[in-house]
This record gives sequence, structure tokens and C-alpha cells, in this order.
Amino acid sequence: MLKVENLSTSYKTIDGDVHVLENLSFEIYENEIFGIAGESGCGKTTLLKTLYDIIDFPMQIDGGRVLLSGKKNGDLFSYESGRIRDAWWKNISYVPQAAQSVLNPISRLKSQFLDSIPEEDKRSETKEETLERVARYLEELSLSRDLLHAFPFQLSGGMRQRVIIALATFMSPNVVLADEPTTALDVVVQRGILAMLMRLQKELQNTMVVVSHDMGVHYQVTKRMGIMYSGSFAELGGTDDIFDDPIHPYTKMLIGALPRVGDTSQKVGIPGRPPALTDPPPGCRFAPRCPHSNERCRQEVPEFREVRPGRFVACHFAEKVKIDDRKAAGS
Ligand SMILES: Nc1ncnc2c1ncn2[C@@H]1O[C@H](COP(=O)(O)OP(=O)(O)OP(=O)(O)O)[C@@H](O)[C@H]1O
Ligand SMILES: [Mg+2]
Repeated sequence: MLKVENLSTSYKTIDGDVHVLENLSFEIYENEIFGIAGESGCGKTTLLKTLYDIIDFPMQIDGGRVLLSGKKNGDLFSYESGRIRDAWWKNISYVPQAAQSVLNPISRLKSQFLDSIPEEDKRSETKEETLERVARYLEELSLSRDLLHAFPFQLSGGMRQRVIIALATFMSPNVVLADEPTTALDVVVQRGILAMLMRLQKELQNTMVVVSHDMGVHYQVTKRMGIMYSGSFAELGGTDDIFDDPIHPYTKMLIGALPRVGDTSQKVGIPGRPPALTDPPPGCRFAPRCPHSNERCRQEVPEFREVRPGRFVACHFAEKVKIDDRKAAGS
């Protein structure tokens, strides 16, 4: 559905270019919820913006490409032709981080729906007919049609987020990109939003990409996921596989730090901090924090490769770590 090849993105700053995404290659399939995890500042939002083609100064693409399959067989959108924007709403839509602020505070929600529906899609209808279609869609999502007459400030944070998701999915796009859709909401509301995304994905049979720094969200809703570290994927594969058997030392530490019911042992965070993207270390960017790193890690960037079917890892010792683990388990 979405194919990314050797993608690199940077920001222009007065101190020079900050290279955020470094040579990313991966695929997101049809009919799946794909998760993107990683610490703050690792480049999750930059990646979604690049996928959605909101590349405005100071952001720039340094290389690579993104290919998006359209609804009709043979439709293929890519940057080269400047055409990912042509796919907006109908083929791909985007729920930005802190999406609540994207709603215009001084306009009723009905105008915001009308403004976001492409002209060609409402040409044969009167305004009332389009609004009736929107109202019915809100009801399908268990939301009240009266919301259309409300101003954004009249709604709770959770309700505003639901409205934004309704707006992003009204045209049944085959890809929905959601950046931290549940952050800043309390757990009960979070659960409702995640349930809404899962239900929509099931109904639309489309592709959802959910960015969250919360591993619990990924465990709950995603089928496959990628774990980013300092601008590229450390590990990517089936979510259950990654939780059951993490391979990259960063993933192991992330999952090891998660609280579990009944486990009273004290959890330790990952020591150190991610490197500054303005001055990243040569070699593996996780090496300064990695308990297994050696000279090679500090010199040579590990290749992001398929170490077993469907499982990609960027660690020099991905294969060796597995062997050592098996030895340790006595098999
Ligand atoms: N406008 C900008 N100018 C310069 N550098 C930027 C700009 N926006 C982002 N960056 C750089 O890009 C890096 C990645 O930012 P991004 O917003 O993609 O991270 P993120 O993973 O989404 O973080 P968070 O979890 O906090 O949302 C930042 O660490 C910062 O160095
Ligand atoms: Mg972000």
C-alpha cells in the first residue's frame, strides 16, 4: 500500500542541515494497522509528514521515494510527479499530532466538514445533501449529528479527537496516518479512541498507521510495527513477535521497561539519552547506550536487514544475539 525506498529527510537550520530521517526503507501493507514507536524527537512526526507530503520549509527531502497505491488498480502516487497531494482525503488522510488545534476555533464543525470534502465529490449534491451524508456518517460512528452545529471549544478533548478522526475517514481513504491520536487524553477516553480506530479499520479494510510513543497502544491495536531510534528503524515486524521476542537491544530495553501486572520488580529506564541529531555518532546511533556494543558498532552503521521472514533489524549482532539467547536457554 505504501512503499518507502531509501528515504532521507532533513531540516535546514542556521547551523546547517539537521538530518532527521536517514535512508529508511520499509513497506506498509493493505488492510493492517501499522504502528510507529520511538522516543520523543526520534523523527516519528517527520516521517508521517514526509509520507503525507507536507514538506514545507525548513523540511526537505534529501533522497529516496514514497510510493502510494491508489484505490483504482494501477493508480500510483509518488513525489516525483508531485502527486501524493492529489491523493489527499480520498486515498490518504492525516490526523496530525495535537490535532485538536487544527480545527478552526471560530467556525462550526459543519463548515469544517464542507471545506474538507473535495468539490468533485459533492458536485451532484446540494449543501444540505452533503451535510446529511456527513450527519449519517457521524451517527454510524456513534456520534451525534448535532455536533455539526457545535464550535470546537464546546467539545471535550476526546470528542474533538473523534470528530477529527471522522473528518479524516469520511472519504474512506485507503490509508489513514494518525500521529499520537491518544496522547494527552485520559485512559478511558484513550480506550474509546483506539476502539474507534480499530472499528473503522475493520469496516474500511484499509491501512492505518498509528504513531505513538506508548508501547501499550501498539500492543493493543497494531498488527505490525516499527521501532524508531534516532531517525531510522531499529526493528520492524509483527507486533506480537516483537513483544514476545525482541531482537534489537533497544527494543529489548523498551519492552523490559514496561510494567506488567503482578510483576513487582523495580523497572529501570534506558540509561543515557538519544544522540543529538545535529551531531550524531558515527556507526550505530544506539551504540553509546547499548550494553553489547563494541568497536565495530561505534564505526559501522548496521544494515537494516531481514533477519527472519518479515522481521527487520538494524544491529550487527541481530543473528548472533539470537544464537546466544538460544544457548542461554539451553537449546
Ligand atoms: N522545524 C524544525 N527545525 C529544525 N529541526 C527540527 C524541526 N522540527 C523537528 N526538528 C528535528 O527533528 C527531530 C525529530 O522531530 P519529530 O517531531 O519528527 O520527532 P517525534 O518523534 O515526532 O517526537 P515527539 O514524540 O516529541 O512528537 C527533532 O529532534 C528535531 O531535532
Ligand atoms: Mg511527534
